[in-house]
Amino acid sequence: MAVCIRRSTLFRLCRRCRSPFVGSLSSQICRSYAQVAVAGLPSFVKVVEVGPRDGLQNEKTIVPAETKIEFINKLSSTGLSVIEVTSFVSPKWVPQMGDHMEVMKGIEKNPNTTYTVLTPNLKGFQGALQTGADEVAIFGAASETFSKKNINCSIAESLKRFEAVTQAAKEANIPVRGYVSCVLGCPYEGDIQPEKVAEVSKSLIDLGCYEISLGDTIGVGTPGAMRRLISTVLNYVPKERLAVHCHDTYGQALANIFAALQMGVSVVDSSVSGLGGCPYARGASGNVSTEDVVYLLHGLAIKTGIDLPKLVAAGQFISNAIGRPTGSRVNQAMSSCA
Ligand code: HMG
Ligand code: MG
Repeated sequence: MAVCIRRSTLFRLCRRCRSPFVGSLSSQICRSYAQVAVAGLPSFVKVVEVGPRDGLQNEKTIVPAETKIEFINKLSSTGLSVIEVTSFVSPKWVPQMGDHMEVMKGIEKNPNTTYTVLTPNLKGFQGALQTGADEVAIFGAASETFSKKNINCSIAESLKRFEAVTQAAKEANIPVRGYVSCVLGCPYEGDIQPEKVAEVSKSLIDLGCYEISLGDTIGVGTPGAMRRLISTVLNYVPKERLAVHCHDTYGQALANIFAALQMGVSVVDSSVSGLGGCPYARGASGNVSTEDVVYLLHGLAIKTGIDLPKLVAAGQFISNAIGRPTGSRVNQAMSSCA
């Protein structure tokens, strides 16, 4: 398993750890560790990269559209099969995503990648359609207060708005993903019952969502709570249609993802360099970093189709662009060998 990036072509040794390279030179890999499978885990995991949206929506300084475009193009070359590019929300609510049209129109699309965007209502969906989004996502919550703070309506009202989106998407033949936020806790209401999450998830499935992403928006969950949540939701949504979306506020995200994999979940959302947070969830820190997730998955001999060194380079690019060190431990370790 690859752990560090080659920089010295002269000696063909990692400058720091002095290990010889394994694999092709172009793979820039200088050392390998064992990949050991664990029985019962999926053999392939789809990683949904949400950094350009969930990550950059939370940046205090607005990242220029051309930087976002370059970032997304770099992500497109890593083998990621899904990239959440932006959101078609009100620029008054989230100015960081106000350049959604420009970004969607500026990126170079990789035919092997699905480019998806958030659409809270019909207006957002129409904008997404104009820019050729391959897929859209509606985003609800299991907490009434969070729903009001985030999208200015109750859960019941949000489902009515989403119905208009799923109907229009069906006519346009666009797949719709559904998020449920605050599945393991709410910044306003505290503990959230798994039954409430299951109820909202089922409503989104009934509206036509092909997949439900369970969002630990403020990263408060622990593996036992994740197991309890998934076993409740599985009464209504099959495991093949579930994803987990873990923020890493309390450092529990990888443990929670591992628990979800053990429950049969094989779709994981993450954000390169651990960018992220929700402007309407006080205290929400970044998503689990994609580099750390991919390192974990590859170490478990789970295929992702993702080139880790290329991902690290994309993470370095955006960290440099926003002037902050990467939030990914794997990125730090691999980059420090450069
Ligand atoms: P509202 O104010 O109730 O909307 O906001 P409205 O229908 O009353 O319209 C008010 C104004 O907004 C009008 O403009 C509309 O045209 C405009 P005005 O006449 O005042 O000039 N408007 C829009 N503009 C652009 N795009 C649109 C749109 N809709 C209305 N789609 C609304 C309701 C949902 C729009 C607003 O609350 C909003 O934009 N919220 C977005 C919040 C957000 O993006 N949060 C972060 C994403 S969720 C998240 O991060 C969690 C997640 O990662 C999972 C997890 O971690 O749990 C997904
Ligand atoms: Mg999120």
